[in-house]
Amino acid sequence: MESKIKVLNEKIALAQLGGGQARIDKHHAGKKLTARERVMYLLDEGSFEEIGMLVTHRTTDFGMEKDLIYGDGVVTGYGTINGRLVYVFAQDFTVFGGSLSETHAEKICKVMDMALKVGAPMIGLNDSGGARIQEGVRSLGGYADIFYRNVQSSGVIPQISAIMGPCAGGAVYSPAITDFTMMVENNSYMFVTGPNVVKTVTNEEVTSEALGGAVTHASKSGVAHLTAPNGVALLNSIKNLLSYLPQNNKETTPKVPYVLGDEVRMELATIIPDSANKPYDMHEVIRGIIDADSFYEIHKDYAENIIVGFARLGGRSVGIVANNPMFLAGCLDVKSSIKAARFVRFCDSFNIPLLVLEDVPGFLPGTDQEWNGIIVHGAKLLYAFSEATVPRVTVITRKAYGGAYDVMNSKHIGADMNFAWPTAEIAVMGAKGASEIIFKKEISEAEDHEAKLLEKEAEYAELFANPYTAAQRGFIDEVILPEDTRRKLLKAFSMLEGKTVHRPDRKHGNIPL
Ligand code: HXC
Repeated sequence: MESKIKVLNEKIALAQLGGGQARIDKHHAGKKLTARERVMYLLDEGSFEEIGMLVTHRTTDFGMEKDLIYGDGVVTGYGTINGRLVYVFAQDFTVFGGSLSETHAEKICKVMDMALKVGAPMIGLNDSGGARIQEGVRSLGGYADIFYRNVQSSGVIPQISAIMGPCAGGAVYSPAITDFTMMVENNSYMFVTGPNVVKTVTNEEVTSEALGGAVTHASKSGVAHLTAPNGVALLNSIKNLLSYLPQNNKETTPKVPYVLGDEVRMELATIIPDSANKPYDMHEVIRGIIDADSFYEIHKDYAENIIVGFARLGGRSVGIVANNPMFLAGCLDVKSSIKAARFVRFCDSFNIPLLVLEDVPGFLPGTDQEWNGIIVHGAKLLYAFSEATVPRVTVITRKAYGGAYDVMNSKHIGADMNFAWPTAEIAVMGAKGASEIIFKKEISEAEDHEAKLLEKEAEYAELFANPYTAAQRGFIDEVILPEDTRRKLLKAFSMLEGKTVHRPDRKHGNIPL
């Protein structure tokens, strides 16, 4: 017995050493934790149970049979985060550069299958040189097996990808299918083809960081939903994100205990500037409404004209979509429509109620937008809201113009409660543009064109630049004081808790992609 236990312990010790101390030291020198250290940090202490620690690859080409390393470059298993079950894989860069072999992929698929069957989040910590070059197509098959499972799990369990080193070639498509992609700044990258291929094909010279680093993907491409300055901060961010999410699409997010007090927030009363053309930061409105310090922003540096993120209202997790007049006057464009549509669909998949804060002057005009398909991309957001069955509440703080009024969770497309502040302006377009069109003849015939335009503008504004025409029609349920917003929202979301909607059977809708 003793000798058998010794053999087991030796094997475990070997497995835990991954690619060996020298490679671990090199990895640490690059300011990176090893795969096991990452898993241990991410999960509650003592909760990790490893699966497949003694798996080895099956390759005999290139003398690989001499190089059998337990675990085959990926640590897989399950554990808890804040007491809630999660499944995890962490690629071990010290073993063949974390490259993906047939068996490495099988290990990942095994935990993905369990996560789906049991109904718990799947977290992937990626740090890999891509397909195991010695294995050729077997490795490509392994990737496809993972992609397929990512799709089957989509909308059933939350899937989170952390990019903590290289992630190149087709390997990027697993993170792309998952719900959230998070990257470590200055120490990770993602691209379909690296700088060398780019140089050969397009003669363009670019560094890995500029081509596919965290900042690039967080601000230019939108591929990364979040970034963190280092691996530990990224792992903390994953833990925090999970606190807003349910375990699967059949559950709701557990409420955080919260004692309600006087929920009137006077700071909201003075946010809207006197002039309709002056910007203000919608983050201030969000802060004034939600539970203290509970905002978890997604895509913070991408398409900043719309804000999306999770927050808590009386301890209840909600998804917020808000126009931000600080950028592009808060208008909808291609990027912001796509950003918000994806977020809305995530929240709807996972039973997270939606709160929309609206100050939108319309869709961004111009050839750039039209040629890049604002029609189809704007339709994504319209579609996403229209199909969402979670509780949906809108607050119009100022402008709600044109098609954007319809799109931003209007009553007409299924919102449950629509509030407006007294500062709301709900109309087809701004008073100036509207007057120039409908009073064109009158203005051109007037002695003083400018004065006539101003007069007509005032007339139009008097009639439409307010929330009352919409309220008379019932398109707005209540015009509320800004300082009362939090109280109204707490009651509205509580009232909507039991909402159920039955849709006609269909295989799936055909969202304009
Ligand atoms: C096998 C690999 C490997 C790979 C790295 N290694 N990538 N082994 N297959 N894909 C091994 C190295 O041989 C080395 O082994 C160890 O990992 C560390 O690699 P280094 O090059 O020393 O590390 P570093 O200098 O940090 O560079 C990391 C790297 C580089 C940038 C990732 O290794 C690299 O360019 N690798 C190849 C990347 C690539 O082209 N992959 C295929 C992409 S195509 P030793 O024994 O020396 O420690 C693809 C298609 C997927 O992935 C398609 C899915 C549909």
